[in-house]
Amino acid sequence: MSSPVVAQLRGASKEYKTGDQVITALYPTDFELRQGELTLIIGPSGSGKTTLLSLLGCVIYPTAGEVIVQGESISRLSERQLARLRLNSIGFVFQSFNLIQPLTAEENVMLPLQLQGMGRAEARRRAHEAIEKVGMSDRRRQLPKNLSGGQQQRIAIARALVANPPMMLCDEPTASLDPHSVGIVMEELKMLAGHGIALAVVTHDIRLRPFADRIVYVNDGRASDVPAGDEFH
Ligand SMILES: Nc1ncnc2c1ncn2[C@@H]1O[C@H](COP(=O)(O)OP(=O)(O)OP(=O)(O)O)[C@@H](O)[C@H]1O
Ligand SMILES: [Mg+2]
Repeated sequence: MSSPVVAQLRGASKEYKTGDQVITALYPTDFELRQGELTLIIGPSGSGKTTLLSLLGCVIYPTAGEVIVQGESISRLSERQLARLRLNSIGFVFQSFNLIQPLTAEENVMLPLQLQGMGRAEARRRAHEAIEKVGMSDRRRQLPKNLSGGQQQRIAIARALVANPPMMLCDEPTASLDPHSVGIVMEELKMLAGHGIALAVVTHDIRLRPFADRIVYVNDGRASDVPAGDEFH
């Protein structure tokens, strides 16, 4: 039996209008993100990967079709409800880590909880747990600039998982990492999926394929379960 669906696209598409030109970033797409699975989203530059991820993460609304997160169609939610959904249910990890530079690693991880209104002491305790999960306890008082790329990315993962979201969306989380750090970060993401989180990881890098439970290929705005084009063979 397959695991429960945490988020899904139903015929969801995205068009961008610039002047009189319309770009279809994503054609109508059906997609399901399931609990406990690590799904890789692979495809060339400009193919629509970030668009797919942004739809799932409720960062953009679809032009047509539906986005359903935890059973709720997001087009029925107000901006405010949507912001709350993002904060409580979705952890984001980006290529460039997006850590806040004047804050220590630990303070960065505490931030989502404090935004939810949690007190400092409890937020710190929870942040410690999340940082421990990514093996960074001994470096938690450091500023981001004193950490390596791989270490910063692990802190970004800790920040994404600290609020215990049912899903995590990662856009090129390994792009600025050396091969050794790529392995560490991917093992960590795999472990999180093992603990029941639904994970979507966008990448150009077909070397990440062995870490996936499922792979979706995106090409020219079309998503499919089979690779399109020679570059994936
Ligand atoms: N805000 C926007 N306005 C107009 N066009 C956009 C916008 N965002 C994306 N696009 C276009 O939509 C298409 C898909 O973009 P998307 O960012 O999803 O690609 P991607 O697969 O993530 O590429 P990359 O691997 O380079 O990050 C591209 O042609 C892009 O130029
Ligand atoms: Mg992208």
